[in-house]
Amino acid sequence: MTDGETPRPDIPDAVVDLIRGADWITVFSGAGMSAESGIATFRDAQAGGRSQAALWDRFDPAELATPEAWDRDPALVWGWYRWRAGHVRTAQPNAGHHALADLGANRTVMVVTQNVDDLHERAGSDVISHLHGSLFAPRCSVCGTPYEGVDALPDDRPRDDSTFDPRVPPPTCRRCGGSVRPGVVWFGEALPESDWQRADQAFRASEAIIVVGTSGIVYPAAALPERAVRAGIPVIEFNPAPSALSEVATHSLRLSAAQGLPALLRALD
Ligand code: OAD
Repeated sequence: MTDGETPRPDIPDAVVDLIRGADWITVFSGAGMSAESGIATFRDAQAGGRSQAALWDRFDPAELATPEAWDRDPALVWGWYRWRAGHVRTAQPNAGHHALADLGANRTVMVVTQNVDDLHERAGSDVISHLHGSLFAPRCSVCGTPYEGVDALPDDRPRDDSTFDPRVPPPTCRRCGGSVRPGVVWFGEALPESDWQRADQAFRASEAIIVVGTSGIVYPAAALPERAVRAGIPVIEFNPAPSALSEVATHSLRLSAAQGLPALLRALD
């Protein structure tokens, strides 16, 4: 205890030494990175701090994040992503995001994220790869033209339970008239090639990898830290619960993003 209330987690010396000795670090983050900003992970219950979160709870994210769901009911899928984008806009980067940005002050720290939010960027980190796309880059589902008007779309859905209507018809492309779709990667879709290439290069060039808040079960993304371990690059995991990567990581710390990453920063001082 240091401030009378909050316990300060210890970071093992071996981890501190690894990070201190690394001039190039790649961070690999998943939904747990943003959990303490109030954004739900995929495999925990939906969170959101608004009554709509509970209403969306009856939909399975894994079933909304598919091309089949889009083909079946584009307004439902668009409504879900609009709700998520609105929720992210009101969320703030947490102490973990800020610690990673600070870690980059005197070494190269590249972030490869599976998250579709923009909290790493807003904290000031260099995000070189959004492996699963972004909530803020919708594009035409037919011709692929980026849709510029998403910020101007009114969020006119009712907020109370009695009138909740999850469906929001997607806008149409100004170029070809096709439906605009979320700029995220759905299950069964290929990862964006350029994001994958940048992630691959960053992992190969790194002297250490920090993995934060991912279950490590969605491929090909999860293969990146696994391959790094096989190549002899130390991988340090921060996750309050065991994940599929815990067994393979060089060090697996049972700490949350907002606890563990600031503690690492303090230990480096
Ligand atoms: P998951 O929801 O699968 O896993 C979240 C992980 O974060 C779990 O291992 C939790 O233990 C951990 N966690 C929870 N709270 C945390 C905290 N405060 N600090 C650190 N860790 C915490 O999310 P992802 O691994 O990101 O893909 O899921 C991977 C992909 O599957 C997502 O990008 C998405 C999803 O379906 C697509 O949409 C294509």
